[in-house]
Parts: sequence; structure tokens; C-alpha cells
Amino acid sequence: MKKILNVTINGTPYEIAIKPKTTLVEVLRNELNLTGTKRSCNAGGCSSCSVLVDGKVVNSCSVLALQVDGKEVTTIEGIADGAKLHPLQQAFLEHGAYQCGYCTPGMIIAGKALLDENPNPTKQEVKEAIAGNLCRCTGYVRIVDAILATAKKLQEEAK
Ligand code: FES
Ligand code: FES
Repeated sequence: MKKILNVTINGTPYEIAIKPKTTLVEVLRNELNLTGTKRSCNAGGCSSCSVLVDGKVVNSCSVLALQVDGKEVTTIEGIADGAKLHPLQQAFLEHGAYQCGYCTPGMIIAGKALLDENPNPTKQEVKEAIAGNLCRCTGYVRIVDAILATAKKLQEEAK
């Protein structure tokens, strides 16, 4: 029997009838066509499916959708300002911090959560923030550089 999920995603409220065992990533990708959130291991081990739930990073493959009932979810589609990319998205582009791109949405979500909480992180803190995010292509150096450059840029803009 289906249950009703009430959730706000990227600022839009949704009421969706789902089977109780449906995961959050399945709702995002299959019900709402928000395919920016990637599903890779589907077992909580790679963080390619990361989204923000009330501002905290969550592996959306490892959460039942009904667990986010009444909460606010932000996906990679929700962090840009209209047509203007989020500074992290821009920095990933400028630093070439991606290859196949499959890990990129999760990396950017992890970076956003970090900078929202700690606007001036050290390199070590950036590495720790993305420690659960697997990338099989880049070697991580450019990803760390992109997040640090974003922090620096946002700090300068805030002066
Ligand atoms: S797909 Fe969710 S952690 Fe790998
Ligand atoms: S860019 Fe391919 S997995 Fe990270």
C-alpha cells in the first residue's frame, strides 16, 4: 500500500504517493526526474547520491523517502541561482575538477555543506569533508583546489 510523502525539494513542496520501501534517491530520480543526483553503489559507500536534508549531507540511497517527510531536501539542481551557477559549480568548471562527472554532484553537495558551516576551511578540513565521496577519475587534487578556491572567493566577496 502506498503512503503519502510530504517534502520540500529545492524550495518546492511535493506530495507524492510512494511505496514505503522507496528510497530518497528513487523518488528524486524516478518520480521527479531530478537525475543530477547520481546513484552508483546504492549501498552507502560512495556518496555520489549525496543531497542536503535540512542542511546536512545525506546519502540518498541509504534513506527511505518517508524518513524525510516534512523536511527540506536540496539537490544539485537546487543550488544554482537560476541560470547562474553556484560558485562551487563555477569553480569545478574552472579548475577542471571532474572527468566523467559521476561523482561531481555529490562532491559539490559535500563542499556546499562544508562551506555553509565553515566558510574558511583548511585543506585538511576539505579533504575530511569529501572523505566519503569516491572519485575514480580525478585523483581529488583539483576537487580540493576548487573547494578551497570557492571559499577564498566567497571570503573576498564578503569583505
Ligand atoms: S549511491 Fe549512495 S552512497 Fe553510493
Ligand atoms: S570525475 Fe569520474 S568519478 Fe569523479
